[in-house]
Amino acid sequence: MIHIGIVGATGYTGFELLRLIARHPHVRLAWATSESAAGKRISELYPTPDETRLIHFADAPLREADVIFFCLPHAASMDAVARARDAGVRAIDLSADFRLPDPDIYERWYHTPHTQTNLLSEAVYGLCEVNREAIADAVLVANPGCYPTAVNLGLWPLARAGALGPRIIADSKSGVSGAGRKLRLSSHFVEINENMVPYSIGYAHRHIAEMELILGAYTPDIQITFTPQLIPVNRGILSTLYVDVDPGLGEEDVRAIYQDAYGDEPFIHLLPPGQHATLRHAVGTNRAAIGLTPLPRPGQWIVTVSEDNLLKGASGQAVQNMNIMFGLEETAGFDF
Ligand SMILES: NC(=O)c1ccc[n+]([C@@H]2O[C@H](COP(=O)([O-])OP(=O)(O)OC[C@H]3O[C@@H](n4cnc5c(N)ncnc54)[C@H](OP(=O)(O)O)[C@@H]3O)[C@@H](O)[C@H]2O)c1
Repeated sequence: MIHIGIVGATGYTGFELLRLIARHPHVRLAWATSESAAGKRISELYPTPDETRLIHFADAPLREADVIFFCLPHAASMDAVARARDAGVRAIDLSADFRLPDPDIYERWYHTPHTQTNLLSEAVYGLCEVNREAIADAVLVANPGCYPTAVNLGLWPLARAGALGPRIIADSKSGVSGAGRKLRLSSHFVEINENMVPYSIGYAHRHIAEMELILGAYTPDIQITFTPQLIPVNRGILSTLYVDVDPGLGEEDVRAIYQDAYGDEPFIHLLPPGQHATLRHAVGTNRAAIGLTPLPRPGQWIVTVSEDNLLKGASGQAVQNMNIMFGLEETAGFDF
């Protein structure tokens, strides 16, 4: 049995992890932390029968956990993760703090210096389908961002095959839980209900760095135009990706590239010709759904990708990473 700790269990990703772990056959919760609600039970904060009592992180018996999940905002996470690593415990960080190997790039996008640069070299980017071998041996996994999971999974097969053009337009819509449980005006019901709100447009959203990290490794001079939009649903991301593909490749060739990359992947749902990813393909599951549509102009394609931002885009992928790290069936705990 694997014992886990959760730091920041009162947030959306932390609570989702509690739900996932409760149904996982090989995992038990050792402890869960909260600074704002230490001493309370989870059932006092969420409509759940879960009676887990929350403790302060300072009181957490770190070594009683085989792995600790960190569900904190970026910048708040790095020193907390360092405590786990000092105690010799493996860590899965859901924040952005260990996703970018170059601390200068981190500081450029997150406007704060990295205080644990010595840990960056041991961090493995936890995009399971892409980095499975490195994740298996990792002591620190940087769980990817929700938008980059969708965009990178949608385009990685083309990039790996050397078939992806450098100019990418990514139009991504997200449910409101993507912004976390913390109160903010843009998440208020009256602001977002019956509305759609673009934000951080014009090479401004931090998640571009993770897209450049993964896709740029194969496609030099990559130029990503990324437009995130908030939509009035609780959960789910739909990314519509407009890309150039090697015009020498026909429709069968492109489909074969995706089949080769994902044909055996339990959490990738490759859609047949004519079908496009929708939120309902993915919400409530740990799957990413991917649809491929050629334009009637050579080498131009539209790729649609959907995922549940709290599952494949966060806590579900974190559990998938844990399964890989501990040699479990990758699908263990996902009986849905
Ligand atoms: N929401 C998503 O769809 C999603 C997807 C992928 C990645 N992520 C990343 O996962 C991490 C957690 O996201 P979330 O959506 O679960 O966030 P959230 O709902 O806002 O929860 C974050 C939790 O962190 C704790 N916390 C500790 N220090 C904090 C601080 N200085 N400021 C605010 N909260 C602090 C809070 O718990 P206490 O006050 O109880 O300690 C809070 O409940 C973030 O880094 C986020 O970017 C989120």
